[in-house]
Amino acid sequence: MATNRTFTMIKPDGVENGHIGGILNMITEGGFKIVSLKLTQLTVADAQQFYAIHSARPFFGELVEFMTRGPIVAAILEKENAVEDFRTLIGATNPADAAEGTIRKKYAKSIGENAVHGSDSDENAAIEGAFHFSGREQF
Ligand code: CMP
Repeated sequence: MATNRTFTMIKPDGVENGHIGGILNMITEGGFKIVSLKLTQLTVADAQQFYAIHSARPFFGELVEFMTRGPIVAAILEKENAVEDFRTLIGATNPADAAEGTIRKKYAKSIGENAVHGSDSDENAAIEGAFHFSGREQF
């Protein structure tokens, strides 16, 4: 059964390029309530763990380097059918394929630096949210 929460990060490119406000605005305009929010930075160990599923991919080193090069914004979002609806809002992994009106269409530059993360399942949303936020930081 779908749960009502998902986890997102505004990736280092989105933060560096001054898009925190614009992306958060699209998220709230999209009907998501922000229940946790922080500016933080992943360590290499954090990124290797977070993206462990991609560890055999040729882009893994590049991905870890990118995700650790500067601050990210981490957030837990709430909405009915949150995981699926948020993946629709962010658009395809490759911004060249992202639909009009999506966050990646507007703010992402490449498949590697694609501005925003969205959990791919309810299970991962819970794991990723708990990685960044204690219970008292989830409102
Ligand atoms: P995301 O889907 O959020 O999580 C996995 C990330 O791996 C993806 O975003 C991209 O940032 C990155 N990625 C996926 N495919 C490629 C690729 N072909 N080259 C570089 N990075 C990629």
